[in-house]
Amino acid sequence: MDDMRLVERTVEQLQSKIEAKGVQVYYGEKHALKDVDVAILDRTVTAFIGPSGCGKSTFLRCLNRMNDTVASARVMGSIRIDGEDIYDARVDPVQLRAKVGMVFQKPNPFPKSIYENVAYGPKIHGLAANKAELDSIVEASLRKAALWNEVKDRLDATGTGLSGGQQQRLCIARAIATSPEVLLMDEPCSALDPIATAQVEELIDELRSQFSVVIVTHSMQQAARVSQKTAFFHLGSLVEYGETGQIFTNPKDPRTEAYITGRIG
Ligand SMILES: Nc1ncnc2c1ncn2[C@@H]1O[C@H](COP(=O)(O)OP(=O)(O)OP(=O)(O)O)[C@@H](O)[C@H]1O
Ligand SMILES: [Mg+2]
Repeated sequence: MDDMRLVERTVEQLQSKIEAKGVQVYYGEKHALKDVDVAILDRTVTAFIGPSGCGKSTFLRCLNRMNDTVASARVMGSIRIDGEDIYDARVDPVQLRAKVGMVFQKPNPFPKSIYENVAYGPKIHGLAANKAELDSIVEASLRKAALWNEVKDRLDATGTGLSGGQQQRLCIARAIATSPEVLLMDEPCSALDPIATAQVEELIDELRSQFSVVIVTHSMQQAARVSQKTAFFHLGSLVEYGETGQIFTNPKDPRTEAYITGRIG
C-alpha cells in the first residue's frame, strides 16, 4: 500500500466509531441482511434509507444487540465499536445499550412520571451518587432534548400524558440520560407533526456535536436535511454509502438512483 493510501485509511479509521464487516442476519430461514460492510463515523449523522423490508431496522438493531431479544434472529459477521467486538461473550448487552442508545418509531415512555422516565437509566447504571446529581442529569437531558421548558413545572406528571412530539423528545431525553456515545433512531419522526418533526431534526443536528447519530428514515427530504452520510439498502444489501449530497445528486448505483427518483420503493 502506498503512503498516501495508508494516510487516508488511518484518518478514516480514527474517525470511525462503528465498523461493521460481513454482517448477515437470518430470521429463521429468511436472509434479511446480506454481507453488510460499513464504517460509521463519530460526531456525524448517518441516514439509512431504502424501501420497506430492505433491512434498515434489522441492521440498526444489530448495532446495540437488540436482535438478541428476537428468538428467531441469528447475527453473523463482526461489529466493532471503538475497536471492541460488541458480540464478544464478555460484553454485557445492558451496558452496551447504555452506550448505544435507541429511540423507536413510536414514542414509548414508561407509564411513570416524566422525571422517572429520564432518571431510570442513570439510576440502574449507577451514574448519580445522590439525588442532587440525579436531578441535574434529568435537567440536563431534558434541556438537550429541547423539552425542559415545557415540562419543568410538572416533572411528576405522567410521561404518557404528554403530546406525541413531547413524548418523543422525552424518549430522546431518556436515551441520552445515560451519556451514550451512539444514538440509534428508527424513524423517530414518523408519528410527529411538522412542527415536532422540525424540533426533533434541530435536536439531531445539535446531538451530532457529542454523539454518532444513526437515523432510519423514509423521508428523503429528512435524510438530506439532517445527515452528512447516507447508506442506501435494497433487498437486504447495503448498495451504496457515501456523502449525503453525493447520494442524492450523483448516485453511483442504478438502484440508488431508481429509489431516490421514486422508481422503486
Ligand atoms: N422479528 C422478525 N421475524 C421475522 N422476520 C423479520 C423480523 N423482523 C424483520 N423481519 C424481516 O426482515 C426483513 C427486513 O426487515 P426490517 O424490519 O429490517 O426492514 P426495514 O427496512 O426496517 O423496513 P421498514 O422500512 O418497513 O421499517 C423483512 O423481510 C422483514 O419481514
Ligand atoms: Mg424498519
